[in-house]
Amino acid sequence: MCGIVAYLGDKNGIDVVINGLKRLEYRGYDSSGISFYDNKIHTLKRKGEVSVLSDLVNELNIKGKTAIGHTRWATHGEPSNTNAHPHNSPNNKITVVHNGIIENYFELKSTLIKNGYKFKSETDTEIIPILIQELQQQGYSFLDALKELKNHLIGAYALVIMTEEFPNQLFGLKKGSPMVLGIGKNEFLLASDPSPIIEHTKQVIYINDDEIVVLSKNNFEIIQLEDKQRNPIIETLDLEVEMIEKNGYDHFMLKEIFEQPKTIYDSLRGRISSDYQIKLGGIDKFAPHLFNANRLIIIGCGTSYYAGFTAQYFLEFLTRIPTQIEFASEFRYKNPIISSGDAIIAISQSGETADTKVAIEEAKIKGASIFGVCNVVGSSIARMAHEGAYTHAGIEIGVASTKAFTAQLSVLFLIAIKIAQMRKTYEQSKLDELTKELSNINKKVDLILKQTENIQNISKELAKAKSILFLGRGIQYPIAMEGALKMKEITYIHSEGFASGEMKHGPIALIESNTPTIIICLKDENYLKNLSNIKEIKSRKGKVIGIITQGDNRTKELLDFCIEIPNALSLIAPILSVIPLQLLSYYTARELGNNIDKPRNLAKSVTVE
Ligand code: M6R
Repeated sequence: MCGIVAYLGDKNGIDVVINGLKRLEYRGYDSSGISFYDNKIHTLKRKGEVSVLSDLVNELNIKGKTAIGHTRWATHGEPSNTNAHPHNSPNNKITVVHNGIIENYFELKSTLIKNGYKFKSETDTEIIPILIQELQQQGYSFLDALKELKNHLIGAYALVIMTEEFPNQLFGLKKGSPMVLGIGKNEFLLASDPSPIIEHTKQVIYINDDEIVVLSKNNFEIIQLEDKQRNPIIETLDLEVEMIEKNGYDHFMLKEIFEQPKTIYDSLRGRISSDYQIKLGGIDKFAPHLFNANRLIIIGCGTSYYAGFTAQYFLEFLTRIPTQIEFASEFRYKNPIISSGDAIIAISQSGETADTKVAIEEAKIKGASIFGVCNVVGSSIARMAHEGAYTHAGIEIGVASTKAFTAQLSVLFLIAIKIAQMRKTYEQSKLDELTKELSNINKKVDLILKQTENIQNISKELAKAKSILFLGRGIQYPIAMEGALKMKEITYIHSEGFASGEMKHGPIALIESNTPTIIICLKDENYLKNLSNIKEIKSRKGKVIGIITQGDNRTKELLDFCIEIPNALSLIAPILSVIPLQLLSYYTARELGNNIDKPRNLAKSVTVE
């Protein structure tokens, strides 16, 4: 949510920052801005996508070696030129970009107004340059003013600051929001994530909370604000530029859907031995907490929540450990009961979701052990967890999460099988069968991806709907929920997921000719019950689209449209049934002409509560 990037080095920093903002745009895209130094600080800001700012920069033909930039997802104040970052001090000598939220901004703003300062924007961020100016007027040196900020600001922030006093330096400061330092040859970058850094250098340091980074021409310094000395480790990014490009696909979402045969494979690679033993580094170290747990509590938001919700079914089935699924965004408001026998599994693609981070903090305070399932290596949640497993899906740029979900399911499956093996709660031969199916599931995913023509035709019908219902039963219920989330977030068509059995308890009242139902009706233990659902909807003149098992002609005859998927063991089938739902959302949004990779009002990583 909001992306920041800053450059100090020999290249034209303005170009580097504009290109970096384009890479970061998936984090927020309602307005953007840049500040650069050319004898004095200059600031340009524009409402709209980064391309609007980029056009302006090209028109003006400006150059500057040191620059900071920001792409915004509005929290305080509507998207506008004025509310866009950077924000400057009244004397125009200090300029700041910010990712996060200053929760006590109202109190700080009131005090600064009483002290005679005038604000231009409605943002929380503008208090920061004004506060720095005020602190300097009180006698603080610039660096001491930055150190002092910590005693005034409540909330989350990653800040990059430029001052005319030290035109050849840049300053970074963080608490709660991510910041990465890229170290190149005669150049440095500071950014919200590695995507704008990768084409310049692979050498990075992840900045910790309560650290100030000072960048100078040939040198950087990391100052600890707390008494927590550390020797910052320079890490090498495992990322290539091609991974953050569309490579011929029209949208990142489509590219990421089609990457799934590979990403599922990558999520399992090296983790299953030839005799079907699970080798998951993090889990071995965390073993006593998981294997002897009295209860598992899974937390996550959005798609990660639905991966956890699906995992609840197979974890309980295979391990017999009571498993609870909780929205991370609600967790701390319940004063959750956590006892020593509980283990928490926290799921997050980005590893930066504020709601999930706060839930983990709450659980840690109550003494829980945290196992993280994250995609982004080195992310905050990966570092907050006691142990964990990466999903290795590669960078996910489309705001609608797809490949991260199937990789999360694969890893959660490995965890469930491993616990069941250790606890001997499920027959070993059947576990072997599941493991074998899992290790080959990517081939079946590939077969579904070959059916896009049929799915595109169905999407033409869906694009006319005013509301779409998604039904699933048992382990397919969370998949129906995930299908509805995907559909609503990129098509803006109202979509709801229900447990099929709940239909008759209320939702069936919604059925009418313009409200189609998508039902997952596979040849599993719930097959006959789902057939009854289809008949009930058809009797009320509702259109039904079925995700069915290949060759199931009996169901096919009842349906208006169907998508056939290969047969699979029912516990693993969610990895298959979600694929047509992702494609249906994608093609429906495309039919409607929506901005698929940047859906309205959303951002990729939600770093505010
Ligand atoms: O990065 P995370 O997995 O923690 O993100 C959680 C949700 O914000 C995310 O899954 C969101 O719901 C997606 N846009 C869904 O496609």
